[in-house]
Amino acid sequence: MSTPSTTGPVDMMDPALLSDPFRGYSRIREEAPLTRAVFAGLGTGVWLVTRFDDVKTVLSDQRFVNNPANVPGRDAHNIREEIIKARGIPPEYARYVLDSVLDADGADHIRLRRLVSRAFTARRVSELRPRVEQITDDLLDRLPGLAEDGVVDLIEGFAYPLPITVICELVGIPEEDRPQWHDWGRALFSLRPGALNEPLRQMIDHIHDLIERRRARPAEDLLTGLIRAHDEDGDRLSDIEMVTMVLTLVLAGHETTAHLIGNGTAALLTHPDQWDALRADPALAPRAVHELMRWCGPVQGTRIRYAAEDVEIGGTLVRRGEPVMALLVSANYDPRRFDDPESLDITREPDGRREVHVGFGHGLHYCLGAALARQEGEVAFLALTRRFPGLRLAVPPEELERQVLPGSWRLARLPVRLG
Ligand code: HEM
Repeated sequence: MSTPSTTGPVDMMDPALLSDPFRGYSRIREEAPLTRAVFAGLGTGVWLVTRFDDVKTVLSDQRFVNNPANVPGRDAHNIREEIIKARGIPPEYARYVLDSVLDADGADHIRLRRLVSRAFTARRVSELRPRVEQITDDLLDRLPGLAEDGVVDLIEGFAYPLPITVICELVGIPEEDRPQWHDWGRALFSLRPGALNEPLRQMIDHIHDLIERRRARPAEDLLTGLIRAHDEDGDRLSDIEMVTMVLTLVLAGHETTAHLIGNGTAALLTHPDQWDALRADPALAPRAVHELMRWCGPVQGTRIRYAAEDVEIGGTLVRRGEPVMALLVSANYDPRRFDDPESLDITREPDGRREVHVGFGHGLHYCLGAALARQEGEVAFLALTRRFPGLRLAVPPEELERQVLPGSWRLARLPVRLG
């Protein structure tokens, strides 16, 4: 069993890494496939898992848990207090933020996930497709009007409003309340410390209020479905859990999908052969989305996992209680799994139905909204190539402003000319 051969922990905010995380991780992946990292607020002890096979192992091995309180011998209360402090979460909202489906293990996780999984099956998602196309068309109709000197920010004008509108529709947030959700969604993008707290409070209050409204007037939406589950068996789902679930869906599904569209459009525009290929053959869309998720997927790494006992991964011993992060962007560039991983090729997989990357995670916590996100991506890229065949970047590619956080990789803006 060996320990990493790199000289010190990887600084996740290292500018060299941030400028190109996809390629930046390759040295770590080759030299020390499991290595320690420094994360702001999380200390120096997080193991980064960088190789494709090891990432899949960690994400499917039940000896790793998402909730550190489930590590035997840990004091659950103290751990919670530590997390609240480290993440700067106002204590009164902790229950809404720390008890989501992503924080749950075992039977708790299955119970929470089952309550909403029906809304995200491939069939239910395909029923939603005409609405997603309509929302997309409406947003694209408005794009030319947003241009200043012929330049539009595609993140602000399209990539960002599409997913929040789709989630509102799916959850059952009434149209008249949506402008407010757009504002909250925008606040979530803000990187200012503490900037999330006020919108978080408002969102929580608003969801509580919506639950009351839906109790009085049920509708065909996810919220009503949650209320029915609650009424059928009150022990199964509390009001707080309902609010947490809605909040989780909005938080997990909004920014991620926005930046699949943002990163993906930038990738296609900087690879005109790929843009032209998709334009010429719309049937390539599902494969294009798989490849864009691999090549520039918006989620860098999963939630931290904790070893519930000593586990050996890729020849390295991870001790009980130690935190581990599966680095999805690194796994998706692992040459052991992908030929010529650095090249973008939307025809890469001959069978477009098969997803081979780990951009949506893997195992029990595999992204619940993957089918929906893929569909939004397909609809968005197809509509852009059809409606604006001459779309082009308004700045040189090297001037695109990237923001890399421990969890995500995204463009602050995507200035384009509609052509
Ligand atoms: C989980 C990525 C869109 C809801 C995850 C995970 C990843 C991910 C990597 C696993 C995290 C982990 O294991 O620690 C993405 C990406 C998206 C996207 C890249 C867009 C391109 C969505 C959408 C929704 C959604 C649209 C719902 C509206 C969820 C939920 C979980 C999850 C609820 C937690 C599942 C569980 O813990 O069982 N997502 N996601 N995601 N995602 Fe997504």
